[in-house]
Amino acid sequence: MTDAVTADSALPLRPGRATAVAPANIAFIKYWGATDLARAVPVNPSISMTLSECVSRTTVEFDPAAAGDDEVWIGRAGETGDWRDPGASFSRRVRTHLAELRRRLGVEVGSGRFQVVTENSFPAAAGMASSASGFSALAVAVAAALGASPSSTELSALARCSGSGSAARSVMGGYVEWPAPGEADHDSSDPRAVQLFPADHWRLSDVIAVVETGPKEVSSLEGHTRAPSSPYFEHRLGELHRRLEAVRRGLVERDFQRLGQAVEEEAIDLHLIAMSSRPPVYYWVPATLAVLAAVRALRADGIAAWSTMDAGANVHVITTPEHETAVAEALAAVDGVHTVIRDRVGAGPTVEVEAAEVAG
Ligand code: PMV
Repeated sequence: MTDAVTADSALPLRPGRATAVAPANIAFIKYWGATDLARAVPVNPSISMTLSECVSRTTVEFDPAAAGDDEVWIGRAGETGDWRDPGASFSRRVRTHLAELRRRLGVEVGSGRFQVVTENSFPAAAGMASSASGFSALAVAVAAALGASPSSTELSALARCSGSGSAARSVMGGYVEWPAPGEADHDSSDPRAVQLFPADHWRLSDVIAVVETGPKEVSSLEGHTRAPSSPYFEHRLGELHRRLEAVRRGLVERDFQRLGQAVEEEAIDLHLIAMSSRPPVYYWVPATLAVLAAVRALRADGIAAWSTMDAGANVHVITTPEHETAVAEALAAVDGVHTVIRDRVGAGPTVEVEAAEVAG
């Protein structure tokens, strides 16, 4: 028996097996640098748009009577025979997350066994927030499989508890802010994301020029570690108050020019910091620069389009639905672009629960 519920609903079924579909998000203001990397406590607030097409689909089954290590598989969720071992480092991260979720959701340490099957609809580990969608899907599915019904605020803490900070923003739809400790209203050392606006506030599109599909050489975790060594790190923090205000106001007033300008500036600053970190981190490839030039040319032709990149070579082009096709066609024509993904703002994760067989 299955029943679709949202992440905020009380779960109507006995715990057992749950499948969550959680989206990636694209950061308008980036999380870059942590005061506590293991707990993903950010130096600065970040703001993102939750996507709808780039998703992770994760099925979790909890057997309270089973013993042994939690099992992690990557492949097509629910289709036995098409699963593969994801490798030691991925499995280790998932197991660390499961251990922390056990602790926070009140499951005795070491008791029972989780089986996790996960797949992405888009290239993983190429700076396209697969950790955001993957870890938020894991948190949502585990909570549901255990019969817990955390609020989306609580899920935001559960999603990032093994170190992927951007996962905190993927548990909510629309436009989401994740505060940093020490800001006016956010003294907590465990800051939770808040939804600024639901998706229907402003139907923006994100056209993604995929120029690299393989995993990046330097993880975002390593990027966060190196960031403070850049001479531009402090400089960007000085700019951030103004930039955050521009993004918040751009969203409130649906002012695309104000929003886009701040988003593009912010992405360039992140990469300046990465490239000037010691040792440096180069996420861009030549096609990244070609896409940035194509986007400037689109704007010169009166097309509303602004670029941003997370920790990777691929370029997300934020645009409006009426300009989405023109942007997608222009990006597909750029040398070095493998694929163009047309995504848009989305409503956040969904979860489906299957009840465990009731013994006796
Ligand atoms: O969540 P992490 O540790 O993968 O870091 C995310 C870093 C960026 O994607 C570059 C920025 C962000 O806020 O998503």
